[in-house]
Amino acid sequence: MIKFPDNFLWGSAASAPQTEGHALLNGKSHTTWDKWIELNPEKFNAGQGPKDTSNVYELYEDDIKRMVEIGMNSYRTSISWARLLPDGKTLNKEAVAFYRDYFEKMNQAGIKPIINLFHFDMPWWLMEKGGWETRESVDAFAFYAKTAFEEFGDLVDEWATFNEPLVHIECGYLYGFHYPAIVDFKKAIQVGYHTLMAHFLAVKAYRETKQTGRIGIILNVTPTYARSEETMDQKAKQNADVLIIKSFLDPCVLGTIPAELVDLVNEHELTPVTEAGDKEIIKEYPVDFIGINYYQPMRVQAAENPRTPAVTTSDLFAHYDWPEKRMNPYRGWEIYPEALYDVSLMMKNDYNNIPWYVSENGMGVAEEERFMNDNGMIEDDYRIEFMEDHLEQLHKGIEAGSNCFGYHTWTFVDCWSWLNGYRNRYGFYRVDLDNNFERSLKKSGLWYKELSQNNGFEI
Ligand code: BG6
Repeated sequence: MIKFPDNFLWGSAASAPQTEGHALLNGKSHTTWDKWIELNPEKFNAGQGPKDTSNVYELYEDDIKRMVEIGMNSYRTSISWARLLPDGKTLNKEAVAFYRDYFEKMNQAGIKPIINLFHFDMPWWLMEKGGWETRESVDAFAFYAKTAFEEFGDLVDEWATFNEPLVHIECGYLYGFHYPAIVDFKKAIQVGYHTLMAHFLAVKAYRETKQTGRIGIILNVTPTYARSEETMDQKAKQNADVLIIKSFLDPCVLGTIPAELVDLVNEHELTPVTEAGDKEIIKEYPVDFIGINYYQPMRVQAAENPRTPAVTTSDLFAHYDWPEKRMNPYRGWEIYPEALYDVSLMMKNDYNNIPWYVSENGMGVAEEERFMNDNGMIEDDYRIEFMEDHLEQLHKGIEAGSNCFGYHTWTFVDCWSWLNGYRNRYGFYRVDLDNNFERSLKKSGLWYKELSQNNGFEI
């Protein structure tokens, strides 16, 4: 039997735009996602958009009962910026009432709310002005953060500023996946810098409003593994580490932007515009904890025909197709639980052993209805095996002294996932899209209950 530390957090993560529904109702204004599906519905799997998410806006009370039913003691979701402050300034009273009741009911049920402020959902009014490309976005976000702390600080004592900030930077400005879907390395770096400063001003607002809880950030610090020990492959790994791991972890935890990152952006003529005083703010406001989302590792090799200055990340490192990789046969990502042990050691050795938790880990499965038994239950043994393998590695990391305080899965109820719609299912509960988003328990939900009740499992 492996046992986790006392008071370990067991739970799941999701986000406002992926679960609430009521995308254009109850005073909420458009986000980029609401607008994008109006403009380009063909980009979205089955034409499903933020209006089609699992209606947590109405169903949250029952969902909280379901959390209790499977032994969760914590849950992360986010606040929708465009719902709380539809024009960026005016408080939407209905949103305040909704979130207050939601968080209060979680607390009453013994579910600790971990509340995140930004999960890829830029308000449209701000995007029209340039979004994260503008310095105005930093101040707008700080105002939103302060408002959220003032309105909900008495109910929430665990906050996060951003979920996976790299995603809106890369997908929006480098790889063409998310709105505005442009490819411009210089803009991507500027967007990254503004996101970083928005994070810091939110932490500053948290300290200045004298909150008594903790604030952190949720990062997808995908561990990297080089093809070989050869200099060029190692250089590629170093570039990937600087951009993917250190770019946010170093400033948020250690209070400094890594010198290698500064050198890299200068060398490639990507230097962002900064403001006097930024450095001091970065130094003064470290986070209290880190959340790490881990799905799969990144394997890298030397870039082929790299250009200088770099036009995109493929000029700095290339993806390596490791021949020995084990794949998730139901959607195609690599499965490599060992990385969680490596991450545990990295947090211990390189980041002052700061408190951290696994804020997302899970297995997406397409066409999951094929695993439904005669009683209508999804028998997702593959998911149980996936999580046990990862938990075993995490446990090894904790035994080695890493300061990990919880394990959250992605996700609780199958949820809408951006352009992928409902293609990849991750939940402990299946959601029936043809039947008013009815939820039904999967086998993994039963397993999770036992896991959290025992605070561990038999290996
Ligand atoms: C995570 C994001 O990285 O991946 C979620 O935080 C997202 O918002 C999840 O839904 C699953 O992504 P996908 O690509 O499998 O649908």
